[in-house]
Amino acid sequence: MSQIVRFGVSLDRRLLDKFDRLIQKRSYTNRSEALRDLIRQELVKEEWEQGQEVAGAITYIYDHHQRDLLNKLTRLQHDHQPIILSTQHIHLDHDNCLEIVAVKGKADAVQDLAFALRSIKGVRHGTLSMTSTGKAIE
Ligand code: NI
Repeated sequence: MSQIVRFGVSLDRRLLDKFDRLIQKRSYTNRSEALRDLIRQELVKEEWEQGQEVAGAITYIYDHHQRDLLNKLTRLQHDHQPIILSTQHIHLDHDNCLEIVAVKGKADAVQDLAFALRSIKGVRHGTLSMTSTGKAIE
């Protein structure tokens, strides 16, 4: 018999407002129900992605004045070179750069790289979009 656990979540007010609008749009009766559904979706996605080859893009923005940031990004990209197809660098404005890293490889390796890039201090709005290529990898 599974046990129900209650826990508190701290959220930015604006993020919560957006979440509530999403809940309403998708006709959930309450936040718990919506959250359970989102967690299940993510878990299923994770299971499905294990061992699958995926292709996609990691996109993020950063301020190139941030100390040591460029070195860290370059080092990380070299470390993950086998799954990186190309990196496009766009100078957005005086301070900000946008990078789009095209990737292909095992789903968990791609996710690890996306997580590592997003975790670098100064990297903002990191997103990963990926799709299965339909091939399984050992
Ligand atoms: Ni730039």
